[in-house]
Amino acid sequence: MNAPLPVQVLKQHLIDPEICIRCNTCEETCPVDAITHDSNNYVVDPDICNGCMACVPPCPTGSIDNWRLVLRADAYSVQDQLGWEELPQEKALPATPDIGGGVEAAAAVPDAAAAPSPAPAASFSQAGASVPPWSAAHPYVNLYTHKTPMTATVVGNYRVTGADTESDIHHIVLDFGELPFPVLEGQSIGILPPGVDAQGRPHHARQYSLASPRDGERAGYNNLSLTVKRVTEDHQGAAAHGVCSNYLCDLAKNDTVQVIGPFGHTFLMPNHPRANLIMICTGTGSAPMRAMTERYRRRIDTGENGRLMLFFGARTERELPYFGPLMKLPRDFIDINLALSREPGQPKRYVQDLIRERGAQVRDLLSDRNTCIYVCGLKGMEVGVLDALRDVTMQSGQDWSILHDVLRREGRLHFETY
Ligand code: A2P
Repeated sequence: MNAPLPVQVLKQHLIDPEICIRCNTCEETCPVDAITHDSNNYVVDPDICNGCMACVPPCPTGSIDNWRLVLRADAYSVQDQLGWEELPQEKALPATPDIGGGVEAAAAVPDAAAAPSPAPAASFSQAGASVPPWSAAHPYVNLYTHKTPMTATVVGNYRVTGADTESDIHHIVLDFGELPFPVLEGQSIGILPPGVDAQGRPHHARQYSLASPRDGERAGYNNLSLTVKRVTEDHQGAAAHGVCSNYLCDLAKNDTVQVIGPFGHTFLMPNHPRANLIMICTGTGSAPMRAMTERYRRRIDTGENGRLMLFFGARTERELPYFGPLMKLPRDFIDINLALSREPGQPKRYVQDLIRERGAQVRDLLSDRNTCIYVCGLKGMEVGVLDALRDVTMQSGQDWSILHDVLRREGRLHFETY
């Protein structure tokens, strides 16, 4: 009756603030809303997290994959975590038999590295695969961190949308000199804008997808490119000054930039011969599509390429980044479908409308196991694109939910939306 109560041990899930790039993927993915953030950190509520691991595979940096054994009563609170600049050291647990009393739910999961894939959840952040295609090359991640950024030099910065349009989108080329920066198409990097935020802290990194292929913006050079839209308003249309996008768009040749990364281990292209790509994007979501297309273009004469089908949404032709170079690509190399929503004299079209219009060709590609699908751009298009893929599939009497599961399991359907 007087036996001591068992003291519970919690394997507490934590996010490393030094590596996290604040991309919001974990918060969107968490099926129980255990992850939250403020202007400083992304954190996990120990009272809600059940250790389901759903957030771990999608995290592009691995910062999500941190665990500390703590006494339940001493768990780090959300408030503690919001104030952190770095993770606390592992603390030794008191050597008492009480600890045998139980390890809580979040602790009952296997080690993260050995964790099984999460069960697919219903939310759209889980609509894509959490594994890369089987033949993707091995990516490097986190070679340069907030603590150890590298310095790149701007070697090009020019506008890729019509000068008279509202969409000020820039193509920015960064050179890494002698320092190694191995990347793959579909990966991203972080840029550390100079200066401090409203709280006087250094700005955290902003993430940008690469627009160039693995062998450089210029083949054989140690450089890469980004597609950056100058942010002058928020999603609701209210005036807003994008700290990093304005910094980047205003850079001059020979300026230097602090870079971290690379990031991303799933939104990667297949590496095996005759793999087909269906690429669906809006605006600056074209960056990874440009990288993948350019990879294919550089080996156009090798006979290795599969088919490329592109659905690209923009307001008008003049607001579609890279319109000129894109239209110069041979028609038998890439099947280009432009969805223009505000072109005077034309009906409003979204990418999902064109997927339906080109249903027969999309179905044909979907029936080939060598086809991978990439979706990048506005968050709002996720639902529309999934609906369109469902309609197209069902028209041939196939069950979309089965195909969708196969595409996810085989790393053949990828989303990167914002
Ligand atoms: P819209 O003219 O309705 O804004 P942006 O220029 O804002 O980056 O948008 C790129 C393109 O994506 C625009 O043509 C925009 O159309 C379109 N778009 C907006 N919402 C969606 C959506 N839910 N699905 C697909 N495309 C969309």
